[in-house]
Amino acid sequence: MKFIVLFLGLLVRPQAVSLTRRFESEKVFRVVPQNETQVNFLKVLASDVQLDFWHPDSVHHIVIGTEVDFQVSLHLANYVLMKLEQNELQYEVLFHNLQEQIEKQFDGGNYFRKMHSYTKYNDWEKIVAWTERIARNNPKMVSRIEMGKTSEGRPMYLLKVGKVTGQKKVIFMECGIHAREWISPAFCQWFVKQATHTYGEDKVMTKLLDSMNFYVLPVFNVDGYVWTWTNNRFWRKNRSNNSNSDCIGTDLNRNFKAAWSTVGASDKPCNEIYCGTSPESEPETKELANFIRDHLDVIKGYISFHSYSQLLMFPYGYTYKLAPNHDELNKVAKGAVDALATVYGTNYTYGPIAETIYLSSGSSLDWASRRGH
Ligand SMILES: *[C@@H]1O[C@H](CO)[C@@H](O)[C@H](O)[C@H]1NC(C)=O
Ligand SMILES: *[C@@H]1O[C@H](CO)[C@@H](O)[C@H](O)[C@H]1NC(C)=O
Ligand SMILES: *[C@@H]1O[C@H](CO)[C@@H](O)[C@H](O)[C@H]1NC(C)=O
Ligand SMILES: *[C@@H]1O[C@H](CO)[C@@H](O)[C@H](O)[C@H]1NC(C)=O
Ligand SMILES: [Zn+2]
Repeated sequence: MKFIVLFLGLLVRPQAVSLTRRFESEKVFRVVPQNETQVNFLKVLASDVQLDFWHPDSVHHIVIGTEVDFQVSLHLANYVLMKLEQNELQYEVLFHNLQEQIEKQFDGGNYFRKMHSYTKYNDWEKIVAWTERIARNNPKMVSRIEMGKTSEGRPMYLLKVGKVTGQKKVIFMECGIHAREWISPAFCQWFVKQATHTYGEDKVMTKLLDSMNFYVLPVFNVDGYVWTWTNNRFWRKNRSNNSNSDCIGTDLNRNFKAAWSTVGASDKPCNEIYCGTSPESEPETKELANFIRDHLDVIKGYISFHSYSQLLMFPYGYTYKLAPNHDELNKVAKGAVDALATVYGTNYTYGPIAETIYLSSGSSLDWASRRGH
């Protein structure tokens, strides 16, 4: 079995007109800490003021020599700048005014009158209508399944794509576990379009669709995704209430039963990588896990799509131990990265999650991979 997590290489490209939370003059800084002193300084700074870490996704994951991108509100920007300079951290400002970037993603307001588009971001209503339409227009190739409901009661739609009838090999593709990573659901939609449009013309695609099925979950964290459209473009977690805390949401990608709550996760509800009260405490996690358990005999691969970076990673995330099929995974990853480079000139880094970025427990990928062995 092959389990891969793919980080797509697009920096956020926003879009929003009526969002409640605005990001006027909010900034995103990039720094590369050069030594332990600078790493510690960033950790202290993050405990001192509110910083939203884009990459890595939590202050816990900051290490020497890697890029750290974080968002700062307008009223803290000068203070943070002063601190960076005092501590001799070289910085780059990736965004000077996030709100402007967000509005660009909404096409200057034209968006809301327009139809679903494969080259723009689509809100949840458009995606729902699209799942229905693409299944109706391709009855021999695509069918829509409701996998379950989110905690706010929205349907979790899954598309089965392929020419194969009966129980044949399946690759599961999961998009949108982190709400704000919009390019991920956009990719899943694009994939289904490519599959249906190129079947019968493209040899590889035809062979794939003749011999196996793809289960494509275009938006896993639906409630969070809706929230990024209506209230806060940079929401990551789901939208569940947490008892004994005013903070909302669990990081679904820390909520699976794979060394749950051990490393690279937080048990604090306010944290962006909060792991929830127990494995599968979140309905979204439970629905997906149930589906995988029910189809374990046919699922041969699991791919989870995130942004942003150019990374292609495979298990494990929760330990530096190598997966039993490490050599095969590494070979597949190299093949994919080389192929991508040939076509798009990209430069993806590949390797096990723990080594390539950081330790993280409770991820969907580790869970699926351990179930698969
Ligand atoms: C850490 O790096 C900064 C910037 O290069 C330097 O000014 C500082 O002296 C270094 N600190 C230590 C403890 O090496
Ligand atoms: C999100 O997580 C909470 C608890 O962490 C859970 O109860 C809820 O059902 C999940 N989903 C949503 C949308 O809140
Ligand atoms: C969370 O709590 C708020 C306020 O009590 C309530 O309005 C909302 O429906 C709750 N959300 C969920 C998903 O239970
Ligand atoms: C690709 O990335 C690696 C690691 O970041 C770097 O060492 C290498 O020079 C890059 N190659 C190209 C062709 O950009
Ligand atoms: Zn993510």
